[in-house]
Amino acid sequence: MEKFYTLFFVAGIGCFVVAIVLSMVFPFMTLNDYQGMGYQTLEDLAAVPSDEFVELSTTFPEAFAEHYGEVSPTSYAEALRLGRDLYVGQACWHCHSQYVRVVSNEEQRFGPVSTAQEYQNALNKPHLWGTRRVGPDLSREHGKRTNDWHIAHLINPKNVVPGTVMPSYSFYFEEDGTPKKKGFALVTYLQWLGTTAVEDPQ
Ligand code: HEC
Repeated sequence: MEKFYTLFFVAGIGCFVVAIVLSMVFPFMTLNDYQGMGYQTLEDLAAVPSDEFVELSTTFPEAFAEHYGEVSPTSYAEALRLGRDLYVGQACWHCHSQYVRVVSNEEQRFGPVSTAQEYQNALNKPHLWGTRRVGPDLSREHGKRTNDWHIAHLINPKNVVPGTVMPSYSFYFEEDGTPKKKGFALVTYLQWLGTTAVEDPQ
């Protein structure tokens, strides 16, 4: 038996090394600019503030100015980052996926099937694919609804979708529906989802 000790020892170390490569080095490489997929930092993503972000600033000029100042790449980046942090913190991902699968005609329900490339950015690190779908997949949410719809829906989902089980997030808004800092962020983030998708990935 003893003559095998060295063999077991080497095999043990070997498995450890393979595990490090597969579970650590490889994912790290793919999450960065591996294979020229074009990793985008938060600054890259926020370079051009979205129309919806601009619209929030004109619909709620005073509240927007108080929380974010002017529309700029910096204030847009701040809202996107905070929006994603809230999405994680409130466990929105527990009921919503962000991955259109290649099976079951999901394309017809949610839009184009997800590609690896669209996750190569700072707001998908880590990605929020999720598995449970109590609500719909949100990875193609951009432009699907207006800001007003999102605000009414977040304040009380039952106002717009009577049978829904989604909880209310009214604490992110004032009594009159004006967003607080976090309300602006959440709507901005929802309106961003799907903007990194490539029309025809080749
Ligand atoms: C308990 C499960 C649950 C949680 C938690 C939840 N949702 Fe929902 N969500 C739903 C369901 C069900 C629907 C579909 C009916 C509806 O529109 O309300 C939905 C719909 C939505 C829609 C509308 C999608 C569309 O265009 O039709 C958005 C946007 C959304 N949720 C965002 C969020 C955000 C942001 C959070 C976290 C702050 C969140 N949800 C948390 C269950 C949930």
